Parts: sequence; structure tokens; C-alpha cells
Amino acid sequence: MGDRYGRVATDLRVSLTDRCNLRCSYCMPAEGLDWMPDEKMLTDDEIVRLITIGVERLGIREVRFTGGEPLVRRGLLDVVRRTKQLEPTPDVSITTNALGLSRMATALVDAGLDRINVSLDSIRPETFTEITRRDRLKDVIAGLEAAHDAGLTPIKINAVLMRGINDDQAPELLAWCVERGYELRFIEQMPLDAQHDWKRAEMVTAEEILTSLSTRFTLTPAREPRGSAPAELWNVDGTSSTVGVIASVTRPFCGDCDRVRLTADGQVRNCLFAREESDLRTSMRAGASDDELAIRWVAAMRGKRAGAGIDDPSFLQPDRPMSAIGG
Ligand code: GTP
Ligand code: 5AD
Ligand code: SF4
Repeated sequence: MGDRYGRVATDLRVSLTDRCNLRCSYCMPAEGLDWMPDEKMLTDDEIVRLITIGVERLGIREVRFTGGEPLVRRGLLDVVRRTKQLEPTPDVSITTNALGLSRMATALVDAGLDRINVSLDSIRPETFTEITRRDRLKDVIAGLEAAHDAGLTPIKINAVLMRGINDDQAPELLAWCVERGYELRFIEQMPLDAQHDWKRAEMVTAEEILTSLSTRFTLTPAREPRGSAPAELWNVDGTSSTVGVIASVTRPFCGDCDRVRLTADGQVRNCLFAREESDLRTSMRAGASDDELAIRWVAAMRGKRAGAGIDDPSFLQPDRPMSAIGG
């Protein structure tokens, strides 16, 4: 699935639900959102059908399940199992807040899950509760331990830093992750919050994050080729760990993008910041064949823009919030 700029999408990010059991302030308002109505959500069979078209016909090699919170989707294990049975076998991963993972980690591995990324912005209970508006840090840590015990490796941690809330906690979060063998990545906050409160001037930049880490750690650039990965990696001297920074705003990586997204209501998004979507759900429910769906999907990729341009004056925040796209 190529676009007009020579990029080829091989990494499919599938949002399984827009619902979530946390209320992170950079994502949702305290009261939550109007969730997608059930009749608009793809069924498990519809999701697997579209993933199958992606893998068997369109060159998808990696499938990542996201949300909202993907662990709250009832059919998750079945969807993971059926995805992992496809040929050629895709790499199957999940991005989760880890609530409920302590109960599900082993079953997910048995279903074929390869890797897991967990959102965790602070290891201080009071800061965690302030950001997520839920007192659930212990459950997240239990989920991480269960993932580790179930043999999931690597375990990556995603942390968003916010000024005046947790921007002083980068070194302690890194020390905590190094001790446990988790791969920490700091993410520049993107304008994808439902409230449209994001302000460029308040965003904690990659540069600031690296300066803060250097007060306690010596970092050297990791030599491995980055490819299409969003994270730039550094080796943490004196340890076998790396730390990453995902600098979507100040150092965008759109030129190497290999991603395409499918929302829980069956829309293809050729970019996280796409202004248009391609409605595969309606086509599918109107009786479109696999060939027809594949053709629509390929056509959607031709419209992918060169980059998101978050730092450009002409940038427009998409209508959908992060929780309804999947990150
Ligand atoms: P790995 O395959 O493990 O490297 O996963 P990942 O880092 O691509 O995925 P994850 O779901 O953990 O996302 C981490 C952060 O990167 C989130 O904030 C995502 O929104 C962001 N991210 C992932 N893909 C893209 C992308 O294509 N563009 C931008 N701007 N951000 C992205
Ligand atoms: N900016 C950057 N990252 C975000 N995430 C959620 N909202 C934002 C945002 N506005 C992160 C979460 C999760 C990943 C999918 O995206 O922390 O780990
Ligand atoms: Fe790809 Fe869009 Fe993300 Fe850029 S912002 S890396 S083009 S999905």
C-alpha cells in the first residue's frame, strides 16, 4: 500500500474501542466522552475480516491493537488469536494502560500476543491519580509484573510529560524502568485531546526531556538503525537499557512512516492526523467483496499527506480525539 511519497504501509494499528477506564487529562475530560454507539462498532468478525485483507492482500506485517483501552473489548483474545493465525504470520502487539492485565497476560500470550506497550506517566501514586483521575497505580504495576512473568518481551513504557505535573519526574521514572528491564519512551504531547486544550508553548519538548535526564544519567545515541520507529533511542550508560524519545512535534518522523490506522467504527485513517477517512464499515455492510474493500483501502493511502506538520502555523487538529483513533 504505497502513497504518493514512496512510503509503504506495513504496520496496521487497529483501535478496538474508544472506551477507557482511565481519564488521562491529555486525552479525555473527567466526565468521559460520548462513546461510539454499538451499531457503529465493528464486530469481531468484521475486524478480523479487514485485518485478513490487510495481511493477505495488502502487505501488512505488523498489527497493533489500541483503544481507548483495548483490554476492555470482550472479544480481544479471540481477535488476537485469529490475527496470529493469518499467513504470513504478523507481529501482534498491544498498547494498553495495563488495568486488568494481571488477569489477562497469560491468556494473551497463549493467544499469540508478541509484545506489549504500557502507558505510565508517573510512579508516584498521587501524580498518577492526578493525571489519570483514578487511583489505580497498583493495578498498573501488577499488570506490568504479570506481563513480565508471562514472558512478554520487550515491555515498553510510554510516558507523556506535562509541565508542572510530572515534568520533574523523568529521571526517577527512568531509574524505575531500568531496574525492572522495561524500555521507557517519553512522548511529546500531541494535540489530540478531546478538550482541545493543547498549547505548543506548554508542551515539554524532547530537548527538555533529554536535559532533565542528563542530570542523573549519561546517554549516548543508540547505533541501531531507527527505520520507521517513532522513538529515537539512547543507551543509558552503565546499564543494558535504552531510553527513547518520541518527538512527533519537534522532530517529526513522517518521512519514514509505515503506518495505517483502522478505527473501531471501521474507518481507515492514512495518518494519525488525517483530515479524511475512508469508510470501510459502510462498504462492508453494503456487501462489498474483499477485492472491493482492498481497492478502497489502497485508494485511501494515495491521499496520505507528506506529514502531519504539527509545528506548522496551518496545522489543524483532527476532529477525532486520541481515544477514538488509537494513538
Ligand atoms: P513500537 O512498534 O513498539 O515501537 O510501537 P509504537 O511506539 O509505534 O506504538 P505505541 O502505541 O506505543 O505509541 C507510542 C507513541 O507513539 C504514542 O503516543 C503514539 O501516538 C505515537 N505514535 C505511534 N505511531 C505514530 C505515528 O505514526 N505518528 C505519530 N506522530 N505518532 C505516532
Ligand atoms: N500526545 C501524545 N501521546 C499520547 N498518548 C495519549 N494521548 C496522547 C497525546 N495527546 C499516548 C498514550 C499511549 C499512546 C497510545 O499514546 O500514553 O501510551
Ligand atoms: Fe505517519 Fe501521520 Fe504519524 Fe506522520 S503523523 S508519522 S504521517 S501517521
